[in-house]
Amino acid sequence: MRDLDGNTAPQETDALIDHIQTRYHAVHRSDLAGLLPLAERVEQVHADDPQAPHGLAQALMTLRREMEDHMAKEEAILFPAMRAGGMQGIDHPIAMMRADHDEHAACIARIRALTGNLTAPAHACGSWRALYAGTEKMLDDLAAHMALENDLLFPRFERG
Ligand SMILES: [Fe+2]
Ligand SMILES: [Fe+2]
Repeated sequence: MRDLDGNTAPQETDALIDHIQTRYHAVHRSDLAGLLPLAERVEQVHADDPQAPHGLAQALMTLRREMEDHMAKEEAILFPAMRAGGMQGIDHPIAMMRADHDEHAACIARIRALTGNLTAPAHACGSWRALYAGTEKMLDDLAAHMALENDLLFPRFERG
C-alpha cells in the first residue's frame, strides 16, 4: 500500500507500526497544534463573514480530542500487543479502533461540510487559505493513516 508521499509502507509488522507512529501519529499531533490557533484566529477575524468557517475551531478540537484518546489507546495497548505477536481476545480492541475510525470519518465529513469542502472563497485572506490547505493535508493524512490500519495492519490479527 502506497503512502501519500508515494512511499510504500513497510511490510513487516514492527516496522509498519513504527511508520504509523512517526509518519501519522506524531505528524497529526504537530499539524493539529498549528491548525487550532489558526482556525480560532480566522473565525475571529472574519466573524461577520457568512462564508467564514464558523464552528471549524470547535470541530477541529472535537476531532483532536477523539484522535488523542484513540492514538493513546493504540500506543498503550494495541500496538504493544501486536508487536508481541498478538494477545487473547485482540479482536475486541481492534473492533473498538475500527469504530473510532468511523467516528473520525464522521468528523471529517462535518469539517468538509462546514468549509464548502475546504474550498476558500475568492476573497479569502492568506491565513484562511493556509488554514484550509493545512486542514486538507491533515485530513488526507488521517484517511491514509486509517486505511493503513484498517486494510493492512488490523487484518493480520483479526480472526474474522
Ligand atoms: Fe493510528
Ligand atoms: Fe487508528
